[in-house]
Amino acid sequence: MRKSVVIGTLVAFFFGFLVLPGIYAGLTEQHERKDQDMEYEFGSYADEWLLYAPEEYGEMQEPPAPFSHTVHEDFDCGECHHDEQGEPWDGTYEIKGCMSEGCHDMAVAEEPEDRRDIRYFYKAYHDLCMTGCHRDLARAGEESGPTACPDCHPEE
Ligand code: HEC
Ligand code: HEC
Repeated sequence: MRKSVVIGTLVAFFFGFLVLPGIYAGLTEQHERKDQDMEYEFGSYADEWLLYAPEEYGEMQEPPAPFSHTVHEDFDCGECHHDEQGEPWDGTYEIKGCMSEGCHDMAVAEEPEDRRDIRYFYKAYHDLCMTGCHRDLARAGEESGPTACPDCHPEE
């Protein structure tokens, strides 16, 4: 009798405090990462992503920035997606993620000048989204996306 109570408590503890939260944490993280890593059919696009720094960047200082294609649906694909020469996407090739190899794939800025290199993912995103489009639109008095740090990196 006493033994089964002890075992029952241990089992309840094990599942309640160790296994279930573990499964839950695993699922939410996978879900967020899956959103980012999902495979897309050519020409299709996904929505509601969390953008993470590349793996090699190490621990992130800020929460991942959310991104939505639907919110940006009034813009041409080519205003964001472009080729190596910076020419807007023309629909003839498959769109890759911004941090893909050969694109904005510098994960760590070793030297001070690296921070100004457009291959540095941090600069690429901030230049196009924050100090580029959003700020320009806001200055022109038009509807715009966020330009403040916590609006793109929301603490929850
Ligand atoms: C406002 C900018 C913007 C516009 C406009 C835009 N996208 Fe994107 N798109 C993004 C961002 C940001 C990502 C996330 C890329 C990443 O995580 O590296 C993305 C990702 C993608 C991906 C996934 C790439 C991958 O394999 O990781 C596809 C496919 C895509 N977009 C297609 C489109 C298409 C088609 C259109 C036009 C209908 C479009 N996008 C319009 C910014 C934009
Ligand atoms: C328009 C949206 C936007 C704004 C505004 C913005 N960021 Fe970012 N930031 C991004 C995106 C997108 C990335 C790349 C994906 C990621 O790391 O979340 C990024 C990456 C980062 C990173 C590298 C990853 C990390 O978490 O360590 C840091 C640090 C950062 N931003 C800090 C800032 C600071 C500080 C500000 C305010 C001056 C700011 N950001 C404003 C969108 C934004």
